[in-house]
Amino acid sequence: MGLKGKIAIVTGSATGIGKATAILFAKNGAVPVIADIDISGAEQVKKEIEKIGISTAAIEVDVSDVDAIKDMVNSVVDRFGTVDILVNNAAVVHDTAIEDIDENEWDRIMAINLKSVFFCTQQVLPYMIKKRWGRIINLSSIAGRMGGYAGGLGYTASKAGIIGLTMGFARRVAEHNITVNVIAPGPTKTEILKNIPEERMAKVIDLIPLKRLGRPENIGETVVFLATEGADFITGAVIDVNGGIFMG
Ligand SMILES: NC(=O)c1ccc[n+]([C@@H]2O[C@H](COP(=O)([O-])OP(=O)(O)OC[C@H]3O[C@@H](n4cnc5c(N)ncnc54)[C@H](O)[C@@H]3O)[C@@H](O)[C@H]2O)c1
Repeated sequence: MGLKGKIAIVTGSATGIGKATAILFAKNGAVPVIADIDISGAEQVKKEIEKIGISTAAIEVDVSDVDAIKDMVNSVVDRFGTVDILVNNAAVVHDTAIEDIDENEWDRIMAINLKSVFFCTQQVLPYMIKKRWGRIINLSSIAGRMGGYAGGLGYTASKAGIIGLTMGFARRVAEHNITVNVIAPGPTKTEILKNIPEERMAKVIDLIPLKRLGRPENIGETVVFLATEGADFITGAVIDVNGGIFMG
């Protein structure tokens, strides 16, 4: 697959889709760096990856903080020499009603979910440009494709913003042989759904033609594919992985 030894930063990989992605990268010979605000969770994932036989690093980072992003990328480059793949996966949800969202909440969601995607990408690009190879894979959501079935509009806006940002970066860095794509998962069984009441979840599952939630590995497999040589003509694409709930 051409992934052996490739250095892949996966943000938000202490759990959920990021963790599944990191493990799948390791199984395919890449070196996934576990970057998360939850350092104890990240250390656990690092241990699991080392059992697969890949030596890696767990890094504590708050992706809403641009200085922390710079420190993260510098420490990856100090340890591994470069960055080949970036997966912008870290995000938070909120479920606040329109009338109750205040400026602080709006800014916090945007900083974690959207500003982070711009600055993580900005910081890794020089290394990818230097070697004329790079893969950037961003995690949007069905919410960014069609407004979402529930949840706060800050989340929806941040996830729609990631789609525009992906296309903008894809056009600007294509000349350096760097691809930038975005995956829009549908409801997927992770901690992010933990506060959604069971009856509401049952209604959502009923809307999914494949009649089940996604597994984190369903999304992780797609991320890994986009990083391989087999995907080298795909850029600026939005890949829906959602059991058929939205066909755009
Ligand atoms: N699970 C779903 O149903 C679903 C659906 C559509 C899109 N997505 C997207 O997939 C991605 C992964 O979601 P998930 O379901 O695995 O979520 P999750 O809540 O299970 O994992 C998110 C991870 O991000 C980390 N994180 C949160 N804030 C951070 C910060 N400021 N800095 C660094 N790390 C931070 C958390 O510690 C956690 O490890 C997200 O971008 C999410 O929006 C998920």
